[in-house]
Amino acid sequence: MSVEELVPRGEGQAHRTSYDDATRARLDADAAQIVARYPQERSALLPLLHLVQSEDGYVSPRGIAFCAATLGITTAEVSAVATFYTQYKRHPNGEYTVGVCTNTLCAIMGGDAIYEHLCDHLGVSHDETTEDGKITLERVECNAACDYAPVMMVNWEFFDNQTPASAAEVVDRLRAGEDVAPSRGADKVVSFKEMSHVLAGFLDGRADEGVGAGEPTLRGTVLARDEGWTAPPFPGDDKPARSSSRAKAAPRTAKPTTGGEQSSAERPVTTAADASSAEQDKKQASSDAKED
Ligand code: FES
Repeated sequence: MSVEELVPRGEGQAHRTSYDDATRARLDADAAQIVARYPQERSALLPLLHLVQSEDGYVSPRGIAFCAATLGITTAEVSAVATFYTQYKRHPNGEYTVGVCTNTLCAIMGGDAIYEHLCDHLGVSHDETTEDGKITLERVECNAACDYAPVMMVNWEFFDNQTPASAAEVVDRLRAGEDVAPSRGADKVVSFKEMSHVLAGFLDGRADEGVGAGEPTLRGTVLARDEGWTAPPFPGDDKPARSSSRAKAAPRTAKPTTGGEQSSAERPVTTAADASSAEQDKKQASSDAKED
């Protein structure tokens, strides 16, 4: 039986405040798997937010409540995280997020022209969705794919060396319901909800599909191999660099201390927030001990 409630927000808008029983059971099962991957429950918040997006297509109010209840934190704490990252959507997202890189290199290579052309072509601008609910257009920052500039992403799959015409063709095909293959990565672009489930940590079996790193990305590696270049030893590493005639030995440093430079361990408890974190560690250790 559905336990959904609708809370009016304004004309034509309503929020569902809870999930029906079957959906809640499915989300609880997925959330339990996610939470079990972390030593502290609250560390699972980022993938849980992706899980919510895989269900609702955005970080919904009921999704925020679900995360808070699952992790034993407040809805304000969940919202504070969700509003920090642009991958978390604050209103219903389209089936495909089309992100045009307009960072410096892509912009001068044509990214600005692509973005402007798509705005005209789709009749939307940044963070707006087409009326058919298919495409949410975004200007995005560097995708670390500058060697293929100008780059466009669809649900975080790469479309390299785009032009205004090729970008318009991609969105037209997506809106028509066709399968569209990115330049690299999986064989076809999946929906925003499907991709969100992958980002929540659930494999979809597509990791080995398609092209991985392309020739421009591998150029540095190939050049280094051909020239016999290797990296200098990492500070504190006892092994000498392999056959590097150019690399100078880096100075050795003392073993990192907890909380100090180069330490990935947490610093000692010094603040109330640390104390609360230490408390969570204790709870987790106790629960781990019970399971053992
Ligand atoms: S500037 Fe566009 S991918 Fe780096």
